Amino acid sequence: MSHDTFPTDRPAVVTCGLPYANGDLHVGHLRSYTAGDVFSRALRKLGQQTAFVCGSDMHGTPIAVNADEEGVSPEEFALSYHEQYLETFPKFNVDFDNYGHTHDETNTELTQDIVRTLDAEGYVYEKEIKVAWDPIEDQPLPDRYVEGTCPYCGAHARGDECDEGCGRHLEPGEIEDPVSTRTGNPAEYRERTHKFFRVSELSDYLSGFLDRLEGTSNARNQPREWIESGLEDWCITRDLDWGIDYPGEEDLVLYVWVDAPIEYISSTKQYTERVGPEVYDWETVWRESETGEAGGEVVHVIGRDIIQHHTIFWPAMLEVADFSEPRAICATGFVTINGKGLSTSRNRAIWAREYLDEGFHPDLIRYYLTTMGGFQQDLDFSWDRFQERVNGELVGTVGNFLYRSLLFAQRNFGGTPDADLSAEVEARIEEAIDDFTDAVNEYEIRRAGDAAVKLAQFGNEYIQRNEPWKLDDEEAAPVIRDCVQLAKAVTVLLEPVTPGKAELAWAQVGGEGDVHDVPVDAALEPPAAEFDEPEELFEQVEDDRVEELNEKLDARVEAATATESESDETPADEGEDVSDELELLLEDRIGFEDFEALDIRVGRIESAEPIEDSDKLAKLEVDIGLETRQVVAGIKQLHDLDELPGTKVVLLANMEKAELFGVESNGMVLAAGEQADLLTTHSDAEPGTKVR
Ligand code: 2FM
Ligand code: ZN
Repeated sequence: MSHDTFPTDRPAVVTCGLPYANGDLHVGHLRSYTAGDVFSRALRKLGQQTAFVCGSDMHGTPIAVNADEEGVSPEEFALSYHEQYLETFPKFNVDFDNYGHTHDETNTELTQDIVRTLDAEGYVYEKEIKVAWDPIEDQPLPDRYVEGTCPYCGAHARGDECDEGCGRHLEPGEIEDPVSTRTGNPAEYRERTHKFFRVSELSDYLSGFLDRLEGTSNARNQPREWIESGLEDWCITRDLDWGIDYPGEEDLVLYVWVDAPIEYISSTKQYTERVGPEVYDWETVWRESETGEAGGEVVHVIGRDIIQHHTIFWPAMLEVADFSEPRAICATGFVTINGKGLSTSRNRAIWAREYLDEGFHPDLIRYYLTTMGGFQQDLDFSWDRFQERVNGELVGTVGNFLYRSLLFAQRNFGGTPDADLSAEVEARIEEAIDDFTDAVNEYEIRRAGDAAVKLAQFGNEYIQRNEPWKLDDEEAAPVIRDCVQLAKAVTVLLEPVTPGKAELAWAQVGGEGDVHDVPVDAALEPPAAEFDEPEELFEQVEDDRVEELNEKLDARVEAATATESESDETPADEGEDVSDELELLLEDRIGFEDFEALDIRVGRIESAEPIEDSDKLAKLEVDIGLETRQVVAGIKQLHDLDELPGTKVVLLANMEKAELFGVESNGMVLAAGEQADLLTTHSDAEPGTKVR
């Protein structure tokens, strides 16, 4: 079944993974929340009725553990972070229609209702399992209260996930050599009765669901493998005081991952309670129709570490409880800082508050985070790159075009000159609208942002080509009319990414109504006859600012690493002496799906010749079985080119094409170290064989 193209006549809800109310927000969080916000604004631009909801994730053992350490109740602890998030998101123009939390009444009731339904439908059973127990304190040790060894890969792991090794979700009782994180006491296993959800019976449904699922491919591929290798039932209760009570059981709470996604529904419900069902009806969205058809368009934006919860456990619950399944799941990659893993313990992070305190406009980081790379790819943040993109694209392309066009229009015509829009510009704006629409339908928000920036780039070329400053008023009028229209279109298309700046630009073009509400077609509506002199929209980020920001970041990381080294309590200390490179190795893990994205093949060099003007580069023809690839490689001075033909090499076949010294390179030959020691194979793998 394929889904209708956006905009559809059903309401949509866009959600973002709930932040644990457990620490300050940083750029890693901002990546998904800005992405969700941009996507929901873009849907609205297409005319799709959309609610954007989220909430704080209040439960789970890490919150209980941290509250314990601070000597406050988990509720007090989590609520203080919840309040902080409520205040912070709007400062980044992340404009949720409702932001609730998992511990509120709406979510508690709905969660217990859903669990009762799972039970009534025969999908819950009891089983005696071994749970980790602190024998000295006589306390159960669920999830993060215990650590030990992963039974699958042998890495050091937390009780609920193999965070340092294979990344698997670990069920209670699975971790080996358990030790209490509270007291350091060796733990033992004791028999306890827990509740299990029969996920294994839903494999067929889940396979079909994945076939229908839209969004990013990582959210489909990984779960298909999990289903193929056989799904286990899921333990949905914990021996803990903090959480939502399992209905009818006094000493069991629900596992945090049961009530957390239900907040997506609860938060939508609260939105309806506020605006009324005639404006937005949560039940139309979330309830399946009698024929089993999904009610609305549910789109989840999440981090890729929580794909399993969203593509297996969550749709399984929805299916049994008769709620709509998600239409799309978009799973973002991680954020790195200056090429290294973001690490809150090492203070290698850009904190949300810090960014705002530096006085930067929120739209700048929104632009960076949502248009930097593909959604699934990891994204590197550096202040240098931030400067480059702000100064290049926002100041140099968008800001420059809007300012020069509107200033010229205002000074010479008091606003938009009375002339017809040219067919060329009309067609170019239509093309940009089509790009934007396709990008939204393909869940590629970067392309949606690009549509606007490329239009501004066209505008700059257009004004340059037509040189209105050399024309008299009559001749200049049609050119400037076109430019003002382009400025208006850029503003409309850029609104999802830079909503704050779009408000200013909208006022500058004399736009009517609220730029956040106008549909994408407003890009082609005639601009105002009169408007005021514009101001520059964006400011350059100066070199000395970047230098200062880099220094601050380095100093912070150094201070945090030193503090870590002084203490001998945290496992992070194990890394106190590691060099940066080793640290990178330890932290910068990639998932299997990232590796799978690389198409690495055996090739055989057919010919090798130097590239004239370059000291280092050689042009290689490499047979990769199906075809021969021309590849440029930096090996000219390191190898005798005449000897290379016939050599087997290893080639990254899906590397983006590049042009070096005017020669196209279609792939990358892999080599080790400074001497470009070419990687090869040792047996008879034929050209074209995939490296796995
Ligand atoms: O991994 C996390 O940060 C969780 N708090 C996400 C929960 S998303 C959901 F399903 F509610
Ligand atoms: Zn593991």
